Amino acid sequence: MNPFRLLPKRLKRRMFRYTPAGFPDPAACGAFYDARHTAFSGDDTMILEYSSVQAQRRLFERAISLLPPRGRVLDLGCGLGDLLSFLDAEGLPYESYHGIDVSERMVQEACRRFGDHKGASFEVLDVLTDPLVAGSFDTGYILSVLGYPIGDDPMVTMMTILKIAFAACRVGIVFSHLVTGRKEGLKFTSVPEEMAAHCEAEFGAQTQIDDDGIDFTYLIALRH
Ligand SMILES: C[S@@+](CC[C@H](N)C(=O)[O-])C[C@H]1O[C@@H](n2cnc3c(N)ncnc32)[C@H](O)[C@@H]1O
Repeated sequence: MNPFRLLPKRLKRRMFRYTPAGFPDPAACGAFYDARHTAFSGDDTMILEYSSVQAQRRLFERAISLLPPRGRVLDLGCGLGDLLSFLDAEGLPYESYHGIDVSERMVQEACRRFGDHKGASFEVLDVLTDPLVAGSFDTGYILSVLGYPIGDDPMVTMMTILKIAFAACRVGIVFSHLVTGRKEGLKFTSVPEEMAAHCEAEFGAQTQIDDDGIDFTYLIALRH
């Protein structure tokens, strides 16, 4: 029985306007998205916290233009698997797609939607406790996943996730994050140039930033 089923949509939206300041670990973050999925079933933008379908699409377009998909694609924090639909709708070639997420409900729903998709698979996984095998993918995407602070030192958590994903992808990865000082109320932000420099120093990555100076979301491609 879905406890939110009988609540009016307006009330559900108001309840979920208040989001946690952060999470102690990725499992707690997964539980939060499980709850959103239960509450907003059928309203994907509310589940995923995008302002609109167009905002999600725009982010995907930016990610793909920084790093086009190649070979085996990793979608870390895949949510409902929308990146897979996007790649197919755009006719972008790839060999296989693997979506991983810490939210069981997200992965269940992604499997329900794309269970018949040849070359696509989904898995409930926390890369911090179950790291990915180095070189097992080619291109990786981490989109709208790192916006909440997780753990005692959120920057260390974020860098650890990036390091694992970067090592897992032979060509490289793209991730999005939130720009410091550009919008009030954001919970976990960073300065694009500092983040790029950090990734170059820590991982030896070649970096490319996508930041228009206006949007509060920026992206960085990390290439080997
Ligand atoms: C806002 S949704 C974005 C989903 C998808 N990337 C998209 O853009 O449509 C964030 C997703 O990241 C997942 N997530 C957050 N932290 C994660 C982690 N450390 N490992 C895997 N998934 C994570 C959440 O469970 C949630 O499904």
